[in-house]
Amino acid sequence: MHKRDFLRTVGSVSLGMMFTPSILARYAAVPAEHLAQDEACWGVLRGKYRLTSDYINLENGYYSMQSEPVLDAFVDHVRSVNFQASRYMRTRQVDDKLRVRTRLAKVAGATPEEIIITRNTTESLDTVIAGYDWKTGDEAVMSNQDYGAMLDMFKLQARRYGMVNRVVSLPLDPRSDDEIVQVYANAITPRTRLLMVCHMVNITGHVLPVRAICDMAHSRGVDVMVDGAHAFAQLSFAIPDLGCDYFGASLHKWLGAPLGAGMLYVRKDKVAQLWPIYGDEGIPETDIAKLNHTGTHPVHTDLAIENAIEFHESIGVARKEARLRHLQQHWTKQVRGTPRIVLNTPADPKRCCAIANVGIAGMRPADLARTLLERYKVWTVAIDNAAAGVHGVRVTPQLFTTPAELDVLVRGLKELAASA
Ligand SMILES: Cc1ncc(COP(=O)(O)O)c(C=O)c1O
Repeated sequence: MHKRDFLRTVGSVSLGMMFTPSILARYAAVPAEHLAQDEACWGVLRGKYRLTSDYINLENGYYSMQSEPVLDAFVDHVRSVNFQASRYMRTRQVDDKLRVRTRLAKVAGATPEEIIITRNTTESLDTVIAGYDWKTGDEAVMSNQDYGAMLDMFKLQARRYGMVNRVVSLPLDPRSDDEIVQVYANAITPRTRLLMVCHMVNITGHVLPVRAICDMAHSRGVDVMVDGAHAFAQLSFAIPDLGCDYFGASLHKWLGAPLGAGMLYVRKDKVAQLWPIYGDEGIPETDIAKLNHTGTHPVHTDLAIENAIEFHESIGVARKEARLRHLQQHWTKQVRGTPRIVLNTPADPKRCCAIANVGIAGMRPADLARTLLERYKVWTVAIDNAAAGVHGVRVTPQLFTTPAELDVLVRGLKELAASA
Protein backbone atom coordinates (compact mmCIF):
# COMPACT_ATOMS: atom_id res chain seq x y z
CA MET A 1 0.00 0.00 0.00
CA HIS A 2 1.30 3.47 -0.86
CA LYS A 3 1.44 6.04 1.89
CA ARG A 4 -1.37 8.02 0.18
CA ASP A 5 -3.67 4.96 0.26
CA PHE A 6 -2.69 4.33 3.84
CA LEU A 7 -3.67 7.85 4.82
CA ARG A 8 -7.00 7.61 2.98
CA THR A 9 -7.83 4.30 4.62
CA VAL A 10 -6.84 5.46 8.05
CA GLY A 11 -8.92 8.59 7.71
CA SER A 12 -12.07 6.70 6.87
CA VAL A 13 -12.31 3.95 9.45
CA SER A 14 -15.57 4.15 11.33
CA LEU A 15 -14.39 4.55 14.89
CA GLY A 16 -11.68 6.88 13.68
CA MET A 17 -8.99 4.44 14.65
CA MET A 18 -5.41 5.29 13.88
CA PHE A 19 -4.37 1.91 12.52
CA THR A 20 -6.80 -0.71 11.20
CA PRO A 21 -5.68 -4.36 11.54
CA SER A 22 -4.62 -4.46 7.88
CA ILE A 23 -2.55 -1.33 8.23
CA LEU A 24 -1.11 -2.65 11.44
CA ALA A 25 0.02 -5.72 9.55
CA ARG A 26 1.58 -3.48 6.93
CA TYR A 27 3.44 -1.44 9.50
CA ALA A 28 4.30 -4.30 11.81
CA ALA A 29 7.74 -4.48 10.27
CA VAL A 30 8.46 -0.76 10.61
CA PRO A 31 10.46 -0.24 13.80
CA ALA A 32 8.70 2.13 16.19
CA GLU A 33 11.76 4.43 16.18
CA HIS A 34 11.46 4.87 12.40
CA LEU A 35 7.73 5.43 12.47
CA ALA A 36 8.32 8.01 15.21
CA GLN A 37 9.80 10.31 12.56
CA ASP A 38 7.11 9.83 9.92
CA GLU A 39 5.33 13.20 10.06
CA ALA A 40 2.69 12.20 7.49
CA CYS A 41 1.67 9.28 9.63
CA TRP A 42 1.42 11.33 12.84
CA GLY A 43 -0.34 14.09 10.95
CA VAL A 44 -3.21 11.64 10.41
CA LEU A 45 -3.43 11.05 14.14
CA ARG A 46 -3.37 14.80 14.79
CA GLY A 47 -6.54 15.02 12.71
CA LYS A 48 -8.30 12.87 15.31
CA TYR A 49 -8.06 15.66 17.89
CA ARG A 50 -9.83 19.02 18.08
CA LEU A 51 -7.04 21.47 18.77
CA THR A 52 -7.21 25.18 19.50
CA SER A 53 -5.28 27.62 17.33
CA ASP A 54 -5.10 30.09 20.24
CA TYR A 55 -1.99 28.49 21.73
CA ILE A 56 0.36 25.53 21.42
CA ASN A 57 -0.56 23.08 24.15
CA LEU A 58 2.63 21.76 25.73
CA GLU A 59 0.98 21.01 29.08
CA ASN A 60 -0.52 17.61 28.35
CA GLY A 61 0.79 16.13 31.59
CA TYR A 62 -2.06 17.36 33.77
CA TYR A 63 -4.94 16.11 31.67
CA SER A 64 -4.55 14.92 28.13
CA MET A 65 -7.60 15.54 26.01
CA GLN A 66 -9.60 12.69 24.57
CA SER A 67 -9.40 12.13 20.83
CA GLU A 68 -12.61 12.95 18.97
CA PRO A 69 -13.61 9.27 18.49
CA VAL A 70 -13.24 8.62 22.22
CA LEU A 71 -15.05 11.85 23.11
CA ASP A 72 -17.94 10.93 20.80
CA ALA A 73 -18.18 7.48 22.39
CA PHE A 74 -18.11 9.07 25.85
CA VAL A 75 -20.97 11.44 25.00
CA ASP A 76 -22.94 8.46 23.63
CA HIS A 77 -22.42 6.67 26.95
CA VAL A 78 -23.64 9.73 28.87
CA ARG A 79 -26.80 9.83 26.74
CA SER A 80 -27.40 6.12 26.87
CA VAL A 81 -26.98 5.78 30.66
CA ASN A 82 -29.16 8.85 31.15
CA PHE A 83 -31.82 7.44 28.80
CA GLN A 84 -32.05 4.09 30.56
CA ALA A 85 -31.43 5.62 33.99
CA SER A 86 -31.96 3.24 36.94
CA ARG A 87 -32.85 0.38 34.59
CA TYR A 88 -29.31 0.58 33.23
CA MET A 89 -27.80 0.91 36.69
CA ARG A 90 -29.71 -2.09 38.04
CA THR A 91 -29.41 -4.44 35.09
CA ARG A 92 -26.26 -3.69 33.11
CA GLN A 93 -23.86 -1.56 35.09
CA VAL A 94 -22.13 -4.38 36.95
CA ASP A 95 -21.53 -6.55 33.87
CA ASP A 96 -20.35 -3.61 31.79
CA LYS A 97 -17.91 -2.47 34.45
CA LEU A 98 -16.53 -5.97 34.83
CA ARG A 99 -15.95 -6.10 31.08
CA VAL A 100 -14.08 -2.77 31.12
CA ARG A 101 -12.06 -3.82 34.16
CA THR A 102 -11.10 -7.09 32.46
CA ARG A 103 -10.00 -5.21 29.36
CA LEU A 104 -8.01 -2.73 31.43
CA ALA A 105 -6.34 -5.56 33.32
CA LYS A 106 -5.20 -6.98 29.99
CA VAL A 107 -3.60 -3.66 29.01
CA ALA A 108 -1.85 -3.66 32.39
CA GLY A 109 -0.69 -7.25 31.95
CA ALA A 110 -2.49 -8.17 35.17
CA THR A 111 -5.53 -10.24 36.12
CA PRO A 112 -8.96 -8.64 36.69
CA GLU A 113 -8.71 -9.79 40.33
CA GLU A 114 -5.78 -7.38 40.77
CA ILE A 115 -7.34 -4.27 39.19
CA ILE A 116 -10.01 -1.78 40.17
CA ILE A 117 -11.17 1.32 38.35
CA THR A 118 -10.79 4.47 40.45
CA ARG A 119 -11.13 8.18 39.77
CA ASN A 120 -7.42 8.92 39.54
CA THR A 121 -3.92 8.19 40.88
CA THR A 122 -4.59 10.14 44.06
CA GLU A 123 -7.52 7.91 44.99
CA SER A 124 -5.61 4.78 43.99
CA LEU A 125 -2.43 5.43 45.97
CA ASP A 126 -4.15 7.07 48.94
CA THR A 127 -6.33 3.95 49.22
CA VAL A 128 -3.15 1.91 49.69
CA ILE A 129 -1.51 4.37 52.09
CA ALA A 130 -4.66 4.55 54.22
CA GLY A 131 -5.09 0.78 53.97
CA TYR A 132 -2.03 -0.01 56.10
CA ASP A 133 -2.53 -0.68 59.82
CA TRP A 134 0.23 1.79 60.73
CA LYS A 135 1.70 1.43 64.21
CA THR A 136 3.73 4.06 66.06
CA GLY A 137 7.33 3.92 64.82
CA ASP A 138 6.54 2.14 61.55
CA GLU A 139 8.41 3.75 58.67
CA ALA A 140 7.77 4.56 55.01
CA VAL A 141 10.29 5.72 52.40
CA MET A 142 9.56 8.20 49.61
CA SER A 143 11.36 10.95 47.68
CA ASN A 144 11.37 14.73 47.56
CA GLN A 145 10.29 14.51 43.90
CA ASP A 146 7.13 12.52 44.65
CA TYR A 147 3.70 14.00 44.04
CA GLY A 148 2.43 16.33 46.76
CA ALA A 149 -0.92 14.62 47.35
CA MET A 150 0.72 11.32 48.28
CA LEU A 151 3.37 13.00 50.42
CA ASP A 152 0.53 14.74 52.26
CA MET A 153 -1.31 11.44 52.70
CA PHE A 154 1.78 9.96 54.34
CA LYS A 155 2.06 13.05 56.57
CA LEU A 156 -1.56 12.48 57.60
CA GLN A 157 -0.76 8.91 58.65
CA ALA A 158 2.25 10.21 60.61
CA ARG A 159 0.04 12.66 62.50
CA ARG A 160 -2.66 10.09 63.14
CA TYR A 161 -0.64 6.97 63.96
CA GLY A 162 2.85 8.19 64.79
CA MET A 163 4.45 6.42 61.85
CA VAL A 164 7.62 7.99 60.43
CA ASN A 165 8.30 9.19 56.88
CA ARG A 166 11.83 9.11 55.49
CA VAL A 167 12.12 11.40 52.46
CA VAL A 168 15.15 10.81 50.24
CA SER A 169 16.68 13.30 47.84
CA LEU A 170 16.97 12.07 44.24
CA PRO A 171 19.72 13.18 41.85
CA LEU A 172 18.41 14.97 38.75
CA ASP A 173 20.83 13.29 36.33
CA PRO A 174 22.15 10.02 37.82
CA ARG A 175 25.22 8.23 36.48
CA SER A 176 23.62 4.79 36.87
CA ASP A 177 20.51 2.92 38.06
CA ASP A 178 22.51 1.79 41.04
CA GLU A 179 23.01 5.36 42.21
CA ILE A 180 19.21 5.74 42.49
CA VAL A 181 18.69 2.31 44.07
CA GLN A 182 21.29 3.13 46.72
CA VAL A 183 19.55 6.38 47.64
CA TYR A 184 16.41 4.40 48.51
CA ALA A 185 18.33 1.51 50.08
CA ASN A 186 20.12 3.87 52.47
CA ALA A 187 16.79 5.04 53.89
CA ILE A 188 15.48 1.57 54.73
CA THR A 189 15.61 0.46 58.38
CA PRO A 190 14.23 -2.62 60.15
CA ARG A 191 11.02 -0.58 60.78
CA THR A 192 10.35 0.22 57.10
CA ARG A 193 7.10 -1.26 55.78
CA LEU A 194 6.36 0.60 52.55
CA LEU A 195 8.41 2.38 49.88
CA MET A 196 6.79 4.72 47.37
CA VAL A 197 8.49 5.40 44.05
CA CYS A 198 7.46 7.35 40.96
CA HIS A 199 7.82 5.43 37.72
CA MET A 200 8.09 8.79 35.95
CA VAL A 201 8.68 11.88 38.08
CA ASN A 202 6.00 14.40 37.17
CA ILE A 203 8.08 17.58 37.57
CA THR A 204 11.10 16.43 35.53
CA GLY A 205 9.99 13.41 33.45
CA HIS A 206 12.77 11.32 34.99
CA VAL A 207 12.05 7.57 34.52
CA LEU A 208 13.27 5.69 37.59
CA PRO A 209 14.61 2.10 37.64
CA VAL A 210 11.50 0.69 39.29
CA ARG A 211 12.31 -3.01 38.86
CA ALA A 212 15.70 -2.67 40.54
CA ILE A 213 14.18 -0.63 43.38
CA CYS A 214 11.46 -3.27 43.90
CA ASP A 215 14.02 -6.09 43.99
CA MET A 216 16.17 -4.22 46.50
CA ALA A 217 13.19 -3.35 48.72
CA HIS A 218 11.76 -6.87 48.64
CA SER A 219 15.12 -8.32 49.63
CA ARG A 220 14.73 -6.18 52.79
CA GLY A 221 11.09 -7.25 53.34
CA VAL A 222 9.64 -3.87 52.26
CA ASP A 223 6.53 -3.49 50.06
CA VAL A 224 6.71 -1.13 47.06
CA MET A 225 3.97 1.16 45.78
CA VAL A 226 4.58 2.64 42.34
CA ASP A 227 3.15 6.00 41.29
CA GLY A 228 2.43 5.23 37.65
CA ALA A 229 0.41 8.38 36.91
CA HIS A 230 2.55 9.22 33.87
CA ALA A 231 4.05 5.85 33.00
CA PHE A 232 0.86 3.93 32.25
CA ALA A 233 -0.02 4.04 28.54
CA GLN A 234 3.04 6.21 27.83
CA LEU A 235 5.74 3.59 28.40
CA SER A 236 5.59 0.01 27.19
CA PHE A 237 5.60 -2.42 30.15
CA ALA A 238 3.43 -4.90 32.03
CA ILE A 239 2.83 -4.04 35.69
CA PRO A 240 3.79 -7.49 37.06
CA ASP A 241 7.19 -7.17 35.33
CA LEU A 242 7.96 -4.17 37.54
CA GLY A 243 7.79 -6.49 40.53
CA CYS A 244 5.78 -4.00 42.61
CA ASP A 245 3.05 -4.70 45.14
CA TYR A 246 0.83 -1.73 44.29
CA PHE A 247 0.54 0.51 41.23
CA GLY A 248 -1.72 3.51 40.67
CA ALA A 249 -2.38 5.44 37.46
CA SER A 250 -4.59 8.18 36.02
CA LEU A 251 -6.25 7.08 32.80
CA HIS A 252 -7.13 10.70 31.89
CA LYS A 253 -3.45 11.32 31.27
CA TRP A 254 -1.77 9.03 28.72
CA LEU A 255 -4.60 6.61 27.96
CA GLY A 256 -6.74 9.53 26.79
CA ALA A 257 -9.81 8.52 28.83
CA PRO A 258 -12.31 11.11 30.11
CA LEU A 259 -11.52 13.11 33.24
CA GLY A 260 -11.95 11.17 36.46
CA ALA A 261 -10.70 7.76 35.35
CA GLY A 262 -7.95 5.94 37.21
CA MET A 263 -6.69 2.49 38.06
CA LEU A 264 -5.31 0.67 41.07
CA TYR A 265 -3.35 -2.58 40.85
CA VAL A 266 -2.83 -4.62 44.01
CA ARG A 267 -0.85 -7.83 43.72
CA LYS A 268 -3.20 -10.70 44.52
CA ASP A 269 -1.48 -11.80 47.72
CA LYS A 270 -1.43 -8.23 49.09
CA VAL A 271 -5.17 -7.54 48.91
CA ALA A 272 -6.05 -9.17 52.25
CA GLN A 273 -3.64 -6.97 54.25
CA LEU A 274 -5.22 -3.65 53.20
CA TRP A 275 -8.06 -2.03 55.14
CA PRO A 276 -10.72 -0.53 52.85
CA ILE A 277 -11.69 3.11 53.36
CA TYR A 278 -15.42 2.38 52.91
CA GLY A 279 -17.10 -0.60 54.55
CA ASP A 280 -18.77 -3.41 52.64
CA GLU A 281 -19.41 -6.47 54.79
CA GLY A 282 -20.54 -8.51 51.78
CA ILE A 283 -17.10 -8.58 50.11
CA PRO A 284 -14.43 -11.07 51.26
CA GLU A 285 -11.14 -9.69 52.64
CA THR A 286 -9.25 -11.24 49.74
CA ASP A 287 -11.40 -9.57 47.03
CA ILE A 288 -9.96 -6.32 45.62
CA ALA A 289 -13.55 -5.11 45.11
CA LYS A 290 -13.58 -4.32 48.84
CA LEU A 291 -11.37 -1.28 48.01
CA ASN A 292 -13.84 -0.02 45.44
CA HIS A 293 -17.11 0.59 47.27
CA THR A 294 -17.52 4.22 46.26
CA GLY A 295 -21.31 4.33 45.85
CA THR A 296 -23.21 5.66 42.85
CA HIS A 297 -20.76 7.30 40.47
CA PRO A 298 -20.51 8.52 36.85
CA VAL A 299 -20.36 5.08 35.24
CA HIS A 300 -20.31 6.59 31.72
CA THR A 301 -16.73 7.68 32.44
CA ASP A 302 -15.75 4.10 33.25
CA LEU A 303 -17.45 2.84 30.09
CA ALA A 304 -15.42 5.21 27.91
CA ILE A 305 -12.19 3.68 29.23
CA GLU A 306 -12.89 0.81 26.86
CA ASN A 307 -13.04 3.21 23.90
CA ALA A 308 -9.85 4.89 25.04
CA ILE A 309 -8.18 1.47 25.17
CA GLU A 310 -9.31 0.72 21.61
CA PHE A 311 -7.84 3.99 20.38
CA HIS A 312 -4.64 3.45 22.37
CA GLU A 313 -4.21 -0.09 21.08
CA SER A 314 -4.87 0.92 17.49
CA ILE A 315 -1.68 2.99 17.74
CA GLY A 316 0.30 0.63 19.98
CA VAL A 317 2.07 1.64 23.16
CA ALA A 318 5.57 1.01 21.76
CA ARG A 319 4.83 3.42 18.90
CA LYS A 320 3.44 5.98 21.34
CA GLU A 321 6.51 5.74 23.53
CA ALA A 322 8.89 6.09 20.58
CA ARG A 323 7.03 9.08 19.12
CA LEU A 324 6.80 10.89 22.45
CA ARG A 325 10.48 10.35 23.17
CA HIS A 326 11.32 11.57 19.68
CA LEU A 327 9.33 14.77 20.24
CA GLN A 328 11.02 15.45 23.57
CA GLN A 329 14.47 14.82 22.12
CA HIS A 330 13.64 17.04 19.14
CA TRP A 331 13.47 20.15 21.33
CA THR A 332 15.78 19.28 24.24
CA LYS A 333 18.67 18.50 21.90
CA GLN A 334 18.38 21.98 20.40
CA VAL A 335 18.64 23.80 23.73
CA ARG A 336 20.81 21.54 25.90
CA GLY A 337 24.17 23.25 26.41
CA THR A 338 22.88 26.70 25.46
CA PRO A 339 24.19 29.33 27.91
CA ARG A 340 21.67 30.11 30.70
CA ILE A 341 19.34 27.29 29.66
CA VAL A 342 19.05 24.64 32.37
CA LEU A 343 17.58 21.22 31.59
CA ASN A 344 16.18 19.49 34.68
CA THR A 345 15.67 16.20 32.85
CA PRO A 346 18.30 13.48 32.31
CA ALA A 347 20.09 13.59 28.94
CA ASP A 348 19.99 9.81 28.55
CA PRO A 349 16.89 9.08 26.38
CA LYS A 350 16.30 5.84 28.31
CA ARG A 351 15.70 7.90 31.45
CA CYS A 352 12.89 10.04 30.04
CA CYS A 353 10.10 10.12 27.45
CA ALA A 354 7.51 12.84 26.68
CA ILE A 355 8.06 15.08 29.70
CA ALA A 356 11.03 17.41 30.21
CA ASN A 357 11.67 20.44 32.36
CA VAL A 358 13.63 23.53 31.37
CA GLY A 359 14.58 26.69 33.22
CA ILE A 360 16.39 29.89 32.38
CA ALA A 361 19.01 31.05 34.86
CA GLY A 362 17.91 34.29 36.49
CA MET A 363 14.26 33.97 35.42
CA ARG A 364 11.53 32.80 37.79
CA PRO A 365 9.61 29.78 36.45
CA ALA A 366 6.29 31.65 36.70
CA ASP A 367 7.74 34.50 34.60
CA LEU A 368 9.10 32.05 32.06
CA ALA A 369 5.75 30.28 31.71
CA ARG A 370 3.89 33.60 31.42
CA THR A 371 6.31 35.01 28.86
CA LEU A 372 6.23 31.87 26.75
CA LEU A 373 2.46 32.15 26.63
CA GLU A 374 2.24 35.90 26.04
CA ARG A 375 5.03 36.21 23.45
CA TYR A 376 5.09 32.81 21.78
CA LYS A 377 1.60 31.37 22.52
CA VAL A 378 3.20 28.34 24.15
CA TRP A 379 1.25 26.88 27.09
CA THR A 380 3.41 25.16 29.74
CA VAL A 381 3.34 24.99 33.52
CA ALA A 382 5.79 26.57 35.98
CA ILE A 383 7.48 24.24 38.46
CA ASP A 384 9.18 26.05 41.34
CA ASN A 385 9.94 23.25 43.77
CA ALA A 386 12.60 24.25 46.29
CA ALA A 387 12.49 20.91 48.14
CA ALA A 388 13.30 19.01 44.96
CA GLY A 389 15.61 21.69 43.56
CA VAL A 390 13.61 21.94 40.33
CA HIS A 391 12.99 25.40 38.88
CA GLY A 392 11.69 25.64 35.34
CA VAL A 393 8.67 24.98 33.16
CA ARG A 394 7.42 21.47 32.50
CA VAL A 395 7.02 20.80 28.79
CA THR A 396 4.74 17.93 27.82
CA PRO A 397 3.97 17.32 24.15
CA GLN A 398 1.35 14.78 23.10
CA LEU A 399 1.05 12.53 20.06
CA PHE A 400 -0.62 15.35 18.12
CA THR A 401 2.23 17.78 18.78
CA THR A 402 4.37 18.63 15.74
CA PRO A 403 8.12 19.27 15.64
CA ALA A 404 7.29 22.70 14.16
CA GLU A 405 5.35 23.59 17.30
CA LEU A 406 8.30 22.53 19.43
CA ASP A 407 10.55 24.73 17.30
CA VAL A 408 8.49 27.73 18.46
CA LEU A 409 9.34 26.74 22.03
CA VAL A 410 13.02 26.40 21.12
CA ARG A 411 13.06 29.85 19.54
CA GLY A 412 11.38 31.33 22.60
CA LEU A 413 13.81 29.70 25.03
CA LYS A 414 16.84 30.79 23.05
CA GLU A 415 15.63 34.38 22.70
CA LEU A 416 14.71 34.65 26.36
CA ALA A 417 17.99 33.07 27.47
CA ALA A 418 19.94 35.51 25.32
CA SER A 419 18.12 38.51 26.80
CA ALA A 420 17.78 37.30 30.40
C1 LIG B 1 3.38 11.65 39.49
C2 LIG B 1 1.95 11.99 39.77
N1 LIG B 1 1.31 11.30 40.71
C3 LIG B 1 0.02 11.54 41.00
C4 LIG B 1 -0.69 12.52 40.34
C5 LIG B 1 -2.11 12.75 40.71
O1 LIG B 1 -2.93 12.48 39.61
P1 LIG B 1 -4.48 12.75 39.74
O2 LIG B 1 -4.65 14.21 40.02
O3 LIG B 1 -5.03 12.34 38.43
O4 LIG B 1 -4.96 11.94 40.87
C6 LIG B 1 -0.07 13.26 39.36
C7 LIG B 1 -0.80 14.33 38.65
O5 LIG B 1 -0.32 15.02 37.80
C8 LIG B 1 1.28 13.00 39.07
O6 LIG B 1 1.92 13.68 38.12
